[in-house]
Amino acid sequence: MAAMWSPIIGLLLLLQLAPSSSSYIQLPLQGSVHPVGYFYVTMNIGGKPYSLDIDTGSNLTWLECNYPGHQCNPCKGPHLPYVPNITHKKVMCGDQFCTDLHKDLPYYPERGCDIHHPHECHYHIQYVGGTSSDGFIVNDTVSVNVLSPSHPSRRVQIFFGFGCGCNQKPHKDSPVDGVLGLGMGKEGFVAQLKARNVIRKDIIGHCLSIDGGGYLFVGEHGMPSGITWVPMRKYSHYYTPGPAQLLLGGEKIGSQKMAVFDSGTTYTYIPDQVYSELVREVKRSVSGSLQRVADHALPVCWKGPFQSIQLVKRKFKPLALEFTNKVMHIPPENYLALTGEKNVCLGILQTPKAGGQMIIIGDVTMQDLLVIYDNEQKLVGWISKQCKHTLEIPSIHAL
Ligand SMILES: *[C@@H]1O[C@H](CO)[C@@H](O)[C@H](O)[C@H]1NC(C)=O
Ligand SMILES: *[C@@H]1O[C@H](CO)[C@@H](O)[C@H](O)[C@H]1NC(C)=O
Ligand SMILES: *[C@@H]1O[C@H](CO)[C@@H](O)[C@H](O)[C@H]1NC(C)=O
Repeated sequence: MAAMWSPIIGLLLLLQLAPSSSSYIQLPLQGSVHPVGYFYVTMNIGGKPYSLDIDTGSNLTWLECNYPGHQCNPCKGPHLPYVPNITHKKVMCGDQFCTDLHKDLPYYPERGCDIHHPHECHYHIQYVGGTSSDGFIVNDTVSVNVLSPSHPSRRVQIFFGFGCGCNQKPHKDSPVDGVLGLGMGKEGFVAQLKARNVIRKDIIGHCLSIDGGGYLFVGEHGMPSGITWVPMRKYSHYYTPGPAQLLLGGEKIGSQKMAVFDSGTTYTYIPDQVYSELVREVKRSVSGSLQRVADHALPVCWKGPFQSIQLVKRKFKPLALEFTNKVMHIPPENYLALTGEKNVCLGILQTPKAGGQMIIIGDVTMQDLLVIYDNEQKLVGWISKQCKHTLEIPSIHAL
């Protein structure tokens, strides 16, 4: 997929590149909020393609893996599992890399090294939604096309450390083979690209199309003007612009809560009391024109059939998240979802216990929005944009 997207001019295997000016990589996205539930990239790792869920809410990149000599559960992703060559691709528990990587995993036990497999760099990652992955850190190549205004596109291959996931829960079929961790980790995918001089700046941007697909970029990419920039804060491991007040049609709903961006979450999550108040108010505001219906896809739905959200969105009021002095506007299409039965549902759920009192801004709310995480200047930004991507390579300039 990625390799077909732009012409490959040279095949370079460079471990230490000269830092080139304003370079970036851009990958097309596949997937959708509904019915896929994921936005993912397809990347070449160890010479084979793997589909990875882009996740700004976690640090570790891992893929389904068959680890020789270990009891791995059969894999459920679209590609054949990754098989590391253990004679030289294993990262050892005592390695500095393993120690550093463990710091990127919240609540990872201090002892780090697994007593039963003392030579391996074990990891365990648990997501707020309840899923988890277990395995070992390995070291293999990833190939990316590097773009820059001053050079032709070039294919670069670097070694990077990632998780070989043996056991994933729940154990069920998935449209992805693993996760691309885009959190602010010291040993995350982007940090490793920067350390190898593939890119100079740790800046991440994603544009999720409302029609499915879109694109992801990493590095110095041209930015449109008019972006709403907010100082980035760190809260409970996530990217956040800070506390936000939820508004429905301009009216306050509940009290201020910390709002975080998480591209690895399909829907948007709102903590208990604010959630109940929101559901009550939305139901009330459409009760004269729409009829409630039970749909197994989501908990709060209204009866269709509707051919598209566009046809029904006028009946719903806009939402907004008001930060200290900036506002994120959330039009109805960014909080509603159309189900397989063509009913329209609230694409907002109640924050699970593990997520505490956070508002988690998920994919549904980031559709047709360019969202930028600038880890250099510690800013997060967003601007409304049509994300449906053609083969256009945007013009770029240094930031
Ligand atoms: C693993 O790597 C070693 C060293 O490069 C090589 O000799 C061996 O054939 C590889 N094994 C497999 C199964 O690819
Ligand atoms: C991965 O392997 C490459 C090539 O052998 C090596 O240069 C690099 O230091 C290794 N990285 C880790 C984290 O083990
Ligand atoms: C990612 O890594 C950074 C740096 O180690 C850490 O502060 C942050 O909490 C981690 N984020 C997550 C979601 O684990």
